Amino acid sequence: MKRILILAAALALSGPLPPSPAAHEPGPPKGLGGERSLPDRYPCVVDDVLRYCRPEKGFWIDLGAGKGQVAIPLIEKTGNPVVMLDPDAEAMSKGLEIAREKGLQDRLLALVGVAEKMPLPDNSVDLLVSRGSIFFWDDPVRGLREVYRVLRPGAKAYIGGGAGSGYPKWAAEKLIGRRKQLMEGDEAPKWKTFVELRRPEQMQAWAEGAKLPQFEVMGKGAISADDPRVGQGVWLLFEKKPEITTRRPEDRLTVRTEGDTVIYSITSPSGIGGATISPWEGWPKKVVLRVHLRGLESFTASTGSIDLRASVLSHSGNRRLLRVVDDGKETPADRGNPYWAEIKALDAKGEPVEGLPGEGGCFEMTLPAALFNDNPKSLTLGWIDFYR
Ligand SMILES: C[S@@+](CC[C@H](N)C(=O)[O-])C[C@H]1O[C@@H](n2cnc3c(N)ncnc32)[C@H](O)[C@@H]1O
Repeated sequence: MKRILILAAALALSGPLPPSPAAHEPGPPKGLGGERSLPDRYPCVVDDVLRYCRPEKGFWIDLGAGKGQVAIPLIEKTGNPVVMLDPDAEAMSKGLEIAREKGLQDRLLALVGVAEKMPLPDNSVDLLVSRGSIFFWDDPVRGLREVYRVLRPGAKAYIGGGAGSGYPKWAAEKLIGRRKQLMEGDEAPKWKTFVELRRPEQMQAWAEGAKLPQFEVMGKGAISADDPRVGQGVWLLFEKKPEITTRRPEDRLTVRTEGDTVIYSITSPSGIGGATISPWEGWPKKVVLRVHLRGLESFTASTGSIDLRASVLSHSGNRRLLRVVDDGKETPADRGNPYWAEIKALDAKGEPVEGLPGEGGCFEMTLPAALFNDNPKSLTLGWIDFYR
């Protein structure tokens, strides 16, 4: 974040910059200039952004911001600072000049970069808006995956193009009529491509390509204003869902990656709880669970179609029992069974011990690869420790 602010401040102070070499954006076909005589559409877009995203104040990005046409009214409406992210440093410095004239220079920041490789940390962005830009990205699918990466769980992205649901009907009709005319004129092929890229089916294909877990495509495209939710245009709305949810708020499930292995560590003050893991990027080669409990009367890992049930007895030498329920049929998962997994006890230093883990220790289990054969969407865990 520090680096971002420094860069933004440098841009703000240094005045107009030379065009960035990355500023390869071909630009819309000529003729779009004529649309400038119509009422300003950006405040209507901002209203929709706020209505559909309900963002928390914080770190907001306008991706493919150009001159901050969306960012500036967004600041004016909310007071929240906005970072423009665009390969075109020249356009953004114009935006910074406009912000200075409006007395908003302390709220508008600029960052040179592209959607496909954003210079931002994972899970850091509270709102990402992008208008009129995805249609120019070299790789929209990669860009959308990046957007998902940088969003904070619970934050939303609103990406697309259009005039906003509150845009006057007469103006939207004029704009659409003009575009239809241009599709018949000298620049017909360019305008046809312009319209093609802005179809909801295209947006749907990009979102599916990016494997966004949940999303909504709104609007019917560049030459329709028939969707009352957004008026003229097409938009993609999605939220980053948390990958891990615990049943009880006091329980913690943390993730650590070591090469091909992902280690999920569970702590549960009451000793009884559950959690669901839904990894967006799919399952790693090796999934290790560390359950920080003193005993494990019952432990389940369920994919929806297969349940693995484990128990560490509090008697009989802390014998481990493991059973698998596949297609409703429960069978023991003994060594040699594809669902067998060793349940180790580790002490507080992570050293293997006999029996139970003791104070500060944990149970460790490498989940059997067979559990992930069908690439389940989620894994639901449940645990009970009566040892307290
Ligand atoms: C038509 S302008 C839209 C500007 C502004 N958002 C608006 O709604 O008027 C498209 C913007 O997308 C930017 N752009 C092009 N390729 C990009 C990419 N790969 N990642 C991010 N922005 C990109 C361009 O530099 C340009 O500023």
